[in-house]
Amino acid sequence: MDLGFKGKVALVTGAGSQIGFGKAISLLLAKEGCDAVAITDINLDDAKLTAEEVKALGCKSIAVKSDVTNKAEVQEMVKKVIDEYGKIDILLNVAGAILGGGPLESQQEELWDKEVGLNLYGTMLVSQAVLPYMKNQNYGVIVNIGSGSSHMYSHGVSTYAMAKAAIDTFTKQMATVEAKIGIRVNCVAPGPSPTNFIKAPDKQAVVDMLAKQIPMGRGATPADIANAAIFFASDISGYITGQVLHVSGGSIM
Ligand SMILES: NC(=O)c1ccc[n+]([C@@H]2O[C@H](COP(=O)([O-])OP(=O)(O)OC[C@H]3O[C@@H](n4cnc5c(N)ncnc54)[C@H](O)[C@@H]3O)[C@@H](O)[C@H]2O)c1
Repeated sequence: MDLGFKGKVALVTGAGSQIGFGKAISLLLAKEGCDAVAITDINLDDAKLTAEEVKALGCKSIAVKSDVTNKAEVQEMVKKVIDEYGKIDILLNVAGAILGGGPLESQQEELWDKEVGLNLYGTMLVSQAVLPYMKNQNYGVIVNIGSGSSHMYSHGVSTYAMAKAAIDTFTKQMATVEAKIGIRVNCVAPGPSPTNFIKAPDKQAVVDMLAKQIPMGRGATPADIANAAIFFASDISGYITGQVLHVSGGSIM
């Protein structure tokens, strides 16, 4: 099946993690025929590792350091990709993390700012920076990464869950506003997966414990998430916008 990636340029945030969703998505974009995939992350060394693997698949790639919470760095990152490839067709907003948690009485509001700043404003800032270029070409696809936690009780990570719920709403708002000019915006909401997102040393054990509540009985793999993201990024989902797709083994129906 032709996914329509020939000649397309993608930008992926949070793609440095060597066991994360961003890298899995970037490699799949390359395998499925994207012309170029720009690998961006707050950690440049990790981004370079992913970019090398993308290039090994015969796809163009550059690694760009950018903190998605820093507007100047985000603008600079987008400019670098435009200078290199002349356009951005596909944006994947993957960067995100849980930064705090615990009982409300013990939480610091500075951390709320940081957590919403990374998970919500980071997605908004990068989308804002890319939008004028997509508008110019009357074409663009944005895939945000939300979380199953926004739709279910999330013990102790309420600020993260709220920020991810806001991504669902941001996805729908932006999808509505930009629909007529050929820009689609969708969201993939993953279930638990053993990436660096899980801070415990034995990530798989944490996922296996959480998987007891998952109808399909297992956590997500980065490939599960990449497959869903690629569907939204490709032209075969060309009549779909403003959707949140839960990739969580039946946890949320
Ligand atoms: N893994 C899970 O269980 C899970 C579940 C639901 C949602 N998610 C979401 O999936 C997304 C990807 O996470 P992952 O599981 O691949 O985790 P990961 O920690 O393996 O990868 C996240 C990447 O984001 C980068 N990053 C962090 N802060 C950044 C910043 N300010 N600017 C730019 N890059 C930054 C990190 O360096 C890292 O490379 C996140 O948005 C996360 O909230 C993960």
